[in-house]
Amino acid sequence: MRGKKISPVLAALAIQAAIFVGLYLLRPVVEEGIDRPVPMLWLVLAQGLIAGIVTRGFGFSIPWVIGQVIAPPLLLFALALDLPSWIFPVILILLVLVFWNVAVGRVPLFLTNRTTSEAILKLLPKKNGFYMADLGSGLGGTLRHLSRNRLDAQFSGLETAPLPFALSWLLGRLSGIKNLEFRFQDIFKADLSEFDVVYCFLSPVPMPDLFEKAKKEMKPGSLFISNSFVVPGHKPNRTVKVDDRRQTKLLIWKM
Ligand SMILES: C[S@@+](CC[C@H](N)C(=O)[O-])C[C@H]1O[C@@H](n2cnc3c(N)ncnc32)[C@H](O)[C@@H]1O
Repeated sequence: MRGKKISPVLAALAIQAAIFVGLYLLRPVVEEGIDRPVPMLWLVLAQGLIAGIVTRGFGFSIPWVIGQVIAPPLLLFALALDLPSWIFPVILILLVLVFWNVAVGRVPLFLTNRTTSEAILKLLPKKNGFYMADLGSGLGGTLRHLSRNRLDAQFSGLETAPLPFALSWLLGRLSGIKNLEFRFQDIFKADLSEFDVVYCFLSPVPMPDLFEKAKKEMKPGSLFISNSFVVPGHKPNRTVKVDDRRQTKLLIWKM
């Protein structure tokens, strides 16, 4: 069920906090044993290493583990640089504005590459005047490319991470493309019956619920295209392998 899973950001912070408390309690015992103070660098390295192991133990992916390992030494490094104190909340706010949907829906921001956009272009209907959505449109690059190449069709990007939405909206306006719009809208609140083609590049987490919604709402004959992420129990009608560095797979369902 959507919304019942614990946010990975909170889980990662909870792991760091628990290890911090553990090391804080253990420190006097170790110092007693070795008869000298434990250097701060050792402590932050131990904090990062243990956090990485525990995080992996909870089944987090490698980028999360790397983040957990390097966060404590980075924090120590930043404190040693004596940066102005407003830097930290500003960085935190920027990260939250960009990666909003990591905390809310476990979907990070990464972008469709140009080779994959070219492959999607070839999958679009030949008939004029279709309507396509990118659910979770990020910085909007995919739709800018597609809409420039299919002036006969309409394109909408739906996005709720504040900074990517604002950037995609601005870049869309500056590009002057007329058949393209970006909406600040949750993909789960959108009416998918509007669209002839729906594209998404999200994460494994929302796929089962999103596919159920698409099945209920999308018109017969319309296309649902998922970049990389499968829908458990629902085989796609077609899979296109893209010849890019990450060996992208486009999974296509005809509704
Ligand atoms: C992996 S990025 C893909 C960006 C873009 N579609 C592309 O392929 O370049 C996924 C995007 O989906 C957005 N997203 C995740 N859940 C969302 C939701 N429920 N409503 C709107 N956007 C969402 C994230 O903020 C992120 O920008």
